[in-house]
Amino acid sequence: MYAEREYMTLHEFVQQARINLHQNTWDYLAGGSETETTQVRNRLALESLAFRPRVLRDVSSIDPSGDVLGERKRLPVVLAPIGSVESFTPEGGIAPAQAADQFGCDHMLSSACEPGLEEVAKSVSKPSMYQLYVRGDRAFVEDVGARVIEAGYRSFCFTVDTAVYSRRERDIAKRYLPRGRQRAWAAGENARLYQAALNWSDVENFKSKFKIPLALKGIMTAEDARIAVEHGVEVVYVSNHGGRQLDHGRGATDAVREIVDAVEGKAEVWVDGGYMRGLDMVKAIALGANAVGLGRLQGFALAAGGIPALVRALEIFENEVISALGLLGVTSLAELNSSHLAAVPPVPSTLNGITLLNRIYPHLDLSDVGY
Ligand SMILES: Cc1cc2nc3c(=O)[nH]c(=O)nc-3n(C[C@H](O)[C@H](O)[C@H](O)COP(=O)(O)O)c2cc1C
Repeated sequence: MYAEREYMTLHEFVQQARINLHQNTWDYLAGGSETETTQVRNRLALESLAFRPRVLRDVSSIDPSGDVLGERKRLPVVLAPIGSVESFTPEGGIAPAQAADQFGCDHMLSSACEPGLEEVAKSVSKPSMYQLYVRGDRAFVEDVGARVIEAGYRSFCFTVDTAVYSRRERDIAKRYLPRGRQRAWAAGENARLYQAALNWSDVENFKSKFKIPLALKGIMTAEDARIAVEHGVEVVYVSNHGGRQLDHGRGATDAVREIVDAVEGKAEVWVDGGYMRGLDMVKAIALGANAVGLGRLQGFALAAGGIPALVRALEIFENEVISALGLLGVTSLAELNSSHLAAVPPVPSTLNGITLLNRIYPHLDLSDVGY
């Protein structure tokens, strides 16, 4: 029997988030930059991959777990950093940290959300990764690095696709500044320029000062992946920021193959952008990625019902992964490879200009979203 009041499908969280959120916060969460072409391409890249299933293999016992930075996790998913997450759920950054803790996966705390890194660290048994937007000089970065290590985080991340804050036109048109942006503006133009000035010598400096594993989030080319590996980075995180930064970019999943090849196993490769389903994660792992980041799905679940809803969303996501593995004829993620995938034209409905959410959630009334 299905429990009537419990979430049973992932799109139910989106529906509930749509009901709960004010139009401003909904658009901040759901939208992308400028024409949202990159955001749509994130889905197109995933939908241009079809599965090649194998049959008559014993799949009576399936294990969807995976290694993330040397630790076995219930699923190789990472809750991606979400700035202003306190606009979706009152606990702010504590919510993804606790949900990840309860479920058994990793999370990333955004430096653009409340509360601060020490408070979030204290709220969980083991904080995972801290993501920094640079708002000061090297002494500032080194101070944050030392605090992150002292607070017990196991890894650190620079987001590198945000040299300039993009034109988020849904927000601009409504003259809406998300909370994280309000704090960035209050810090002043000089503070904001440090992120723009960030370069490889800062990565080198960080690696020389700190032993903590480092991720660079927002790598989209084999060229940059190679430089990252030369700098001893532990995680090359393939991402276009969910289509919220450079518009008219490639879908993130389209960059995975070349980056996995360039990295040659010398770092982990994580990817995010449009990952809304367990099957999407299975595709990324088959392409050679080690883990997948969840951005908007996490935000929708938190907006729908806070920590318990996010834990429930992860359970459903896991069920989808298990179902996909069984139907592909494998019993673990390690058995997946490129032979399980075929390049196909995306289903025609994705090509008619309708965005991500209309595509995945056709029953939602999104007429007021304007796309
Ligand atoms: C509301 C929102 C806030 C975000 N804030 C941050 C942030 O503070 N730092 C960061 O590195 N990425 C941030 N991102 C990008 C996500 O970490 C992630 O790369 C992206 O959402 C993945 O795409 P998806 O939403 O399609 O899953 C944000 C994304 C959203 C939707």
